[in-house]
Amino acid sequence: MDKQRHLISRLADGHFHSGESLAKEMGISRAAVWKRIKTLTDCGLDVYSVRGKGYRLSRVIELLDSNRICVGMSVDAVAGINELQVLSVLDSTNQYLHQRLNEGSIHAVVVLAEFQKKGKGRRGNDWLSPYGSGLCLSLGWHFQSTPGSYTALSLACGVAVCRSLQRLGIGEVGLKWPNDIINNDRKLGGILLESRSETAGCSDVVIGIGINIHLPDSSIKAIPQPVIDISRMRQHSISRNALCGVLIEELFNMLEDYQTRGFTSCIDEWRRLDTLKGREADLVLPDDTLSGEILGIDENGLLLMRVDGDTLRFSSGELSLRVQS
Ligand code: BTN
Repeated sequence: MDKQRHLISRLADGHFHSGESLAKEMGISRAAVWKRIKTLTDCGLDVYSVRGKGYRLSRVIELLDSNRICVGMSVDAVAGINELQVLSVLDSTNQYLHQRLNEGSIHAVVVLAEFQKKGKGRRGNDWLSPYGSGLCLSLGWHFQSTPGSYTALSLACGVAVCRSLQRLGIGEVGLKWPNDIINNDRKLGGILLESRSETAGCSDVVIGIGINIHLPDSSIKAIPQPVIDISRMRQHSISRNALCGVLIEELFNMLEDYQTRGFTSCIDEWRRLDTLKGREADLVLPDDTLSGEILGIDENGLLLMRVDGDTLRFSSGELSLRVQS
């Protein structure tokens, strides 16, 4: 375990730890501990330092642990994982898996990071998630034949995320096209699919999922759109490891189904989870903004919108939707 991860795992209990005891355990000087503590704030951690008591985090953090993740999963799902990597700090789990494609297969490889320095969102946006405050997960998948539409696949991933939240009793979730996870018009999570197609007709997809679990107030303010986290939706937060296990299982189930039945495997469920149908919205295109009524999705997952009496279809790409309240 690297020194930073060691330090965080000691502080994760939310209790005070003296600089002296930390220095002794880590085999470094007290000044070096202090320097390392300062780097934790770069990862979005709030560290209190009190003379005579030492250091403590502003809250308890349940760190991710591959054994604890697998405990909550079915035997079949665990057997389906080719590799499960839990990392402390990365630029981006999506970028990491995409790079690994150059070295070999990433099929059923799951990568998690406690903190991403350059977390990627849709349309070139950043994905902000301070250390241990959410889930940052990427799953690699190899398709023998390229799925008809990546838009539909990314919508299906949204259904899998909602299923996993519902299984843990977080039922008040819905979807905002193409694949934002929503509670009460606020964003609880997002999905970013990145693919690479091969000439032989097969393709590899990196499915990146971010879910907010316990965001500090400062992040809620810093993110330029209404956001929410699981701990604000219910009195008790949930186990990050348990959510991770259930999410991996639901993603595997969805992908198995999708490979054989395509989007028909979950289109009805997507439509039930749709939070936009019947609402007025502005659709922001690269060089125009259209206003109209959202009619839902077609069988390929394209957005249907009535604009000036015409029904138009849109694929996800570079679009963004602003719902009128
Ligand atoms: C969105 O903008 O709604 C998509 C957000 C996707 C964020 C996740 S976090 C794990 C994975 N790694 C990344 O860099 N991004 C995705």
